[in-house]
Amino acid sequence: MKILGIESSCDETAAAVVEDGVRVLSSIVASQIAVHHPYGGVVPELASRKHIENIMPVVRQALSRASLEADQLDAVAVTRGPGLVGALLVGFCFGKAFAYGLDIPWVGVDHLEGHIHSVFLESPSPDFPFIALLASGGHTNLYYVKSHTDIECLGQTFDDAAGEAFDKVAKMLGLGYPGGKVISDLAKAGDPEKIAFPRPYLDKNAFDFSFSGLKSAVNRYVQTHGDFEDQAADIAAGFEQSVVDVLSFKMMHAAKARKCRHIALVGGVAANRRLRDQMTAAARKQGLTLFLPSIGLCGDNAAMIAASGYYYLKDPARPADALNADVYSRGKR
Ligand code: KG4
Ligand code: ZN
Repeated sequence: MKILGIESSCDETAAAVVEDGVRVLSSIVASQIAVHHPYGGVVPELASRKHIENIMPVVRQALSRASLEADQLDAVAVTRGPGLVGALLVGFCFGKAFAYGLDIPWVGVDHLEGHIHSVFLESPSPDFPFIALLASGGHTNLYYVKSHTDIECLGQTFDDAAGEAFDKVAKMLGLGYPGGKVISDLAKAGDPEKIAFPRPYLDKNAFDFSFSGLKSAVNRYVQTHGDFEDQAADIAAGFEQSVVDVLSFKMMHAAKARKCRHIALVGGVAANRRLRDQMTAAARKQGLTLFLPSIGLCGDNAAMIAASGYYYLKDPARPADALNADVYSRGKR
């Protein structure tokens, strides 16, 4: 089954063709970083307008890279939420209309379930049940994944998402947007032990997160040290180490609590080198197998959406989505 995936929940317009939920025939991502960079964050209306401009070329490119004509597609899978409503509507309405025009099935996909499916696009992939930690700009969620469509959320952040904390700390240090990559590049030259920032573990037995206190601690440090520019690398390294320690600890704890041998780290923050290395070492120590998407599949993409949609589409018992279905900004349906 060849599925066209479409993703437009935030600041990436993406389209991909994936065969049988696992083989990526093409994956195109048009980033809007240049559009939002001057504002220090995503401007929702500009994102929607840019999606409108990009959606047709991106879909055309995904088809041509896969050497397919539109009428060779079997279905369309498109992100339905969560995300920016105006941004979601562009991809969602396009996806529905495209499928309707071709008279093929379509399915609305949850963006977060999509991220979890990024680990099924490469082999080996995890066995069920496994623990997945999604760390992105909008979410920090721990999941107990029982099947492709039966996914239990064990915990989430009470305030800032991990990626959001990276973005906000980058802004404090005057490093621009998006912050994850710049902070981790800067942190390479810093000493993670030099400045002791707090580790927000909350209740060590719970699976919830909170990063706003850590962000405030960095802000206090910056405000009270006039010469912070000289220490920017140490601040970045200390902050990054705190996030990495907390994410690694909670992941290991969830694996132990749910007796899972397989764990997966997904989402934009999964591209972080220190996090990948530390979690790999921690998993090895615990006898666990960690699954990491390659860097290109950590951030938002449409291949993961097509992969997730495949498992809904191939279930004969599942009713088709209604053509008047709407997007959702938060939560699920
Ligand atoms: O998954 P994603 O592309 O979009 C959302 O669904 O949010 O994640 C984007 C987030 C941003 O906050 C970005 O700063 C963060 O992922 N990020 C990183 C790195 N690369 C991207 N955070 C830490 N280290 C990185 N190398
Ligand atoms: Zn995402």
